[in-house]
Amino acid sequence: MKEELLTILRPYHQEHLLAFWDELDQEEQAHLAEQIKAIDLALITKMYAACCTETNHSQNTLLAEPPVAVRMGASTDVDQRAAEQAGLAALADGTVGVALVAGGQGSRLGFDHPKGMYPIGPISGSTLFDILFGKVIATRSRAKASVPIYLMTSPATHQETLAYLNREQNFGIPAAEIMVFCQGTMPAVDATNGKLLLKSKSSLFLSPDGHGGMLAALNRCEALRDMQRRGIKHLFYFQVDNPLATVCDPALIGHHILARSEYTLQVIAKQAPEDKVGNVVQLEGQTQIIEYSDLPAETANLRNPDGSLKLWAGSIAVHVFDVDFLCRLAVQRDALPIHYARKMVNFVDSDGKICQPIEPNAIKFEQFIFDLLPSASSTITVEVDPAMAFAPLKNGPGEKTDTAEHVQQQLMHFYRQTLRAAGLQVAETARVEIDPRFALTPGLLKNKIAAGSVIKDGTYVH
Ligand code: UTP
Repeated sequence: MKEELLTILRPYHQEHLLAFWDELDQEEQAHLAEQIKAIDLALITKMYAACCTETNHSQNTLLAEPPVAVRMGASTDVDQRAAEQAGLAALADGTVGVALVAGGQGSRLGFDHPKGMYPIGPISGSTLFDILFGKVIATRSRAKASVPIYLMTSPATHQETLAYLNREQNFGIPAAEIMVFCQGTMPAVDATNGKLLLKSKSSLFLSPDGHGGMLAALNRCEALRDMQRRGIKHLFYFQVDNPLATVCDPALIGHHILARSEYTLQVIAKQAPEDKVGNVVQLEGQTQIIEYSDLPAETANLRNPDGSLKLWAGSIAVHVFDVDFLCRLAVQRDALPIHYARKMVNFVDSDGKICQPIEPNAIKFEQFIFDLLPSASSTITVEVDPAMAFAPLKNGPGEKTDTAEHVQQQLMHFYRQTLRAAGLQVAETARVEIDPRFALTPGLLKNKIAAGSVIKDGTYVH
């Protein structure tokens, strides 16, 4: 077997992967052989060469324009109501599914389990999965139709997520309404010479291939076919780390349908030029996202005559895709480009010792789902109030933003607003929480709690 593997590796100068072969037992050898055979070495070589000659695209960002958008305050109540009606009708027809991506390693958060298991509920201690699945259940009950969940994991999160959901009986989602599928992985290479890195003597360093890996994974596991079979036409996409996500927002889905969009983005208005969100723009006739790290300050600071930011639209990674669009792109080679990131990666050196670098030593390869944007025949961007829709959990305690503490504050602010909008009394600083299964909107809350009731500090409405 060693000779066979060397024949595969030699043309790409990757023979070092077998440096410890003779020390491995049979099982370890089989594992390493399987990993090596699964890798497209020609592609890795090409990607490494491409990242070394990567050009700087920042010059043309000065030509970027804001996207075609439904702005808050600018769209009329009639537009909003029509959109909401169209979205509710699509939900009631059972033509909407949800894609929840939960394959990331959550390295910044520093939590020892898949991020979806993080207890974020400010009073209940409910996990992200519990809250987000609760929103899907509330959507199903409201629509009186099925809303299947396509949940993406990665090898880093798959087994534990499956076991957890099993234990919790999918938080009430029937087994026939959820498909858990695993995304692919990409190896990391030494930034100086393109050699693949070993995590141990018998294992390559592999990490999830980015949320863009969803496209190939949906196709591979036949989820796209499953959607077609069920008559799902629109897929609501969101990420596991945002418990404020407006899951299956009827108005967003409705705008998508009424505008005949293939790919719709929910966005927030940036507060400052340097906000760390992807910038949704029109450039070279296409809608695109320019990452904050790629947007030169000169462009980010461009202003309209009224002083507002010209490139105002920040993506919060909530999208609606047409299923036909995904099916079309899933069979296209190179539908998504590869992004490169320089990262610190622990690896086994030629003496067999684990090295812990103190500066970025490796290149990781990833695909991003929003790179599908330029391929869409039509797109639309819909603005939402961040206080109602965006509270991402990214960082561990002590960081300036996006920690569990920040998220819980934002959640409680949202719950207080919802209670007040339902005609209930709640103090400015009260710690409160609402189970989405109990009521998702002020309208639904009104039907369940008498107007004027006082909601005390520390209440979990469920
Ligand atoms: P992030 O890019 O914020 O990554 O993912 P992360 O893994 O959560 O955190 P860090 O960067 O390691 O600290 C945004 C969303 O995309 C999903 C994540 O699970 C999260 O919901 N994602 C990311 C995937 O599903 N797969 C990936 O390969 C990467």
